[in-house]
Amino acid sequence: MDVVTQMPQVATLDDLIQELHKVFDSDEVNVEYVYNLLASYKSNPVEWKKFAKFDRYKYTRNLVDEGNGKFNLMLLCWGPSHTSTIHDHADAHCFMKMLEGSLQEVRFEWPKGDETEEGMVEIDRNILKLNGVCYINDSLGLHRVENASHSEGAVSLHLYCPPFSACQIFDERTGKKMKCPVTFWSKFGKKVENGPPKSAC
Ligand code: SIN
Repeated sequence: MDVVTQMPQVATLDDLIQELHKVFDSDEVNVEYVYNLLASYKSNPVEWKKFAKFDRYKYTRNLVDEGNGKFNLMLLCWGPSHTSTIHDHADAHCFMKMLEGSLQEVRFEWPKGDETEEGMVEIDRNILKLNGVCYINDSLGLHRVENASHSEGAVSLHLYCPPFSACQIFDERTGKKMKCPVTFWSKFGKKVENGPPKSAC
């Protein structure tokens, strides 16, 4: 007999967060299940607007939920042409879902040595459209996320499990890496005071 796994359909962001708490109660991460759960949520700006804080110069990371210490859920707000560095995910699972606009994800191989003359090798490029989901972890490579639009902003929802506060960033021309703290622009809808003015990465 086939065992059919029930896939909950979440209607709101609150429902999604509640369901994520249940899923991450267990120590095993079912990547496919979380992926499908995120895909089942249809973005409703009314539900997430209070977390969406933009900066003119750099994309912002805005904490939505700390997932009982098991995961961090956050909104990333990308102004026109904003881009991340090439980075790893500190051995964590990274899920990313588009809530508004569109982003390009560029994947790279891990550099072979500390510094290479050829530079880093691109392995894939994906356009993420509204409500689309993507997943990466360190065994799948590194990535850079870009808002390719010069006129439109974009908003994405990110889940990292376990949460991490530093990652490695890479120079595309040489593969040289550097440790980098990851910071929040706002937490639970409130700007983080006295924090660094911009995310360090
Ligand atoms: C990502 O890796 O998903 C985006 C970059 C970030 O978290 O700052």
